[in-house]
Amino acid sequence: MDHFHLKNGVLQAENVPLTRIAAEVGTPVYVYSRATLERHAQVFRDGIAPVGRSHIAFAIKANPNRAVLRVLAKAGYGADVVSGGEISRAIASGMKPEDVVFSGVGKTRAELEQALDSGIGQFNIELEEEGVVLAQIAASKGMTANATLRVNPDVDAGTHAKISTGKKENKFGVAIDQAPGIFDRLAGLPGLSMRGVALHIGSQLFDLDPLEAAYRRIGRLVADLRAAGHVIDRVDLGGGLGVPYRQAPPPITDRWWRASPKAGTSR
Ligand SMILES: Cc1ncc(COP(=O)(O)O)c(C=O)c1O
Repeated sequence: MDHFHLKNGVLQAENVPLTRIAAEVGTPVYVYSRATLERHAQVFRDGIAPVGRSHIAFAIKANPNRAVLRVLAKAGYGADVVSGGEISRAIASGMKPEDVVFSGVGKTRAELEQALDSGIGQFNIELEEEGVVLAQIAASKGMTANATLRVNPDVDAGTHAKISTGKKENKFGVAIDQAPGIFDRLAGLPGLSMRGVALHIGSQLFDLDPLEAAYRRIGRLVADLRAAGHVIDRVDLGGGLGVPYRQAPPPITDRWWRASPKAGTSR
């Protein structure tokens, strides 16, 4: 349920006719509904409540509007960011630095420094070399960066090829068969605290079977890492649930968490 509905053939946002907004401020105009954002934030939170300790990070790339981010910050959400600009935006919108997760390929040295100096809560490392650079910078500052290794589970999300992130030919994350070795080497570096693994297989997911397949693979990897003596207390589970633009029912969040690997305490 959202707060957009038709009344006498005119679309309303929280009972305000969009025609009135258009007349007052002109077009084009984007109209967001705070009540809808708050409701959806709560529905998602309720959906994953049985997981226990969890942390929800909104991908700022999905909507960087500061008013939208402020609403989500008030709802207790953190942010998934992919640039220095997004780090600044998240914090300026009221998100706690420790609730910010830095994902994405191509992080620059300057961005890694900014993230460390801002006190962000988690770095999702996309490849071994990035982890080595992060460790060096953190150690030179006398800091320890909390990190996860982003793993590519080689699962087809079944959505549009351009928004798939979890097939081996996609540029994101390390290959799952190489993950234990890379994790081991990174865990030995001063300046890094390797806390777990991250994955993201794509956006606009309506069919949750690919997520379940990916989470099963990640669950096995977590078990292997633990058996090798690593303490894994974070599993960062990505793959955005679909937005029903065309009246399709939204994906069911309780099935999502049931599929998730148990991280002991999960973030
Ligand atoms: C790490 C990560 N987080 C978030 C996203 C955004 O997508 P969604 O909001 O569907 O999770 C992407 C998309 O590529 C991503 O790679």
